[in-house]
Amino acid sequence: MSKYGGYEDTPRLAELYDLVPMYNNRADRDFYLKQARSADGPVLELGCGSGRILIPCAKAGCDITGLDLSTHMLTSCRTKVENLPNEMRERVRLVQGSMVDFDLKGKYSLVTIPFRALQHIIGVEEQLAGLSCINRHLQMNGTLIFDVFQVDMKIMSRILSDKEIENTPEFKLPDGCRLRRTHRVVAVDSVNQFNNVEIIYYLTELSGEVRRYVQAFPFRYYFRFELEHLLARTGFKIVDLFGDFDESPLKEESPEMIFIAEKVREI
Ligand SMILES: C[S@@+](CC[C@H](N)C(=O)[O-])C[C@H]1O[C@@H](n2cnc3c(N)ncnc32)[C@H](O)[C@@H]1O
Repeated sequence: MSKYGGYEDTPRLAELYDLVPMYNNRADRDFYLKQARSADGPVLELGCGSGRILIPCAKAGCDITGLDLSTHMLTSCRTKVENLPNEMRERVRLVQGSMVDFDLKGKYSLVTIPFRALQHIIGVEEQLAGLSCINRHLQMNGTLIFDVFQVDMKIMSRILSDKEIENTPEFKLPDGCRLRRTHRVVAVDSVNQFNNVEIIYYLTELSGEVRRYVQAFPFRYYFRFELEHLLARTGFKIVDLFGDFDESPLKEESPEMIFIAEKVREI
């Protein structure tokens, strides 16, 4: 079980990440792209991964820094940046580091943490340290935007399972190999508010051999008012709270909690 998402376990996980249709089709990309385009200064994306959101932002002309802990995800992102035209590439900076402790020696107008990356931060001390770092990297009145899933108590009560649940039926990759993906929750720690999750990739090679790759990691879940308190303690005021990437308000059945917060004091 790896901390911080398990992306370091094998380089294959970074390659496979880019192939998953449910990641590629997520509506968050257009949402974050719109936010980055309307920022009136440099953007910092924490947990930028292989660049699913960072690359479209760079192509749109944003001045963007991406920070990620995983060597493999950053290598994949760097390859894509290197293929951009010069004028776009020059506006991108990639840094390896942890969102709970970083010093980029710069100020940003927008910091984003897309696709639930904050849920890789398990403990409260680390969460506070990370949000404090973000505060120090934002201009006064600058914006922090992040999303986490909204907890559905009905699902949480029956989430533990030995059985793998298929979430990506087998499909053919461009090189002719075939990929299918499942997930399961192997342990629940309700006292510390995280589940131990496995995402399991089955890659069928052209030879017919099936390889199984397991990404195992603890995944934190947050409640709405817990995040409101964490943000208040680290110098932020919430200006909007959406329930989905169409910017609809948070409702009981909303899949996401998308926080838009403004830095209102130095800490
Ligand atoms: C679900 S991926 C999201 C990647 C990208 N933002 C996207 O939307 O496709 C989560 C990313 O967070 C990174 N990550 C996890 N813990 C981190 C930490 N403490 N500091 C920086 N990055 C972290 C992982 O390496 C991974 O690339």
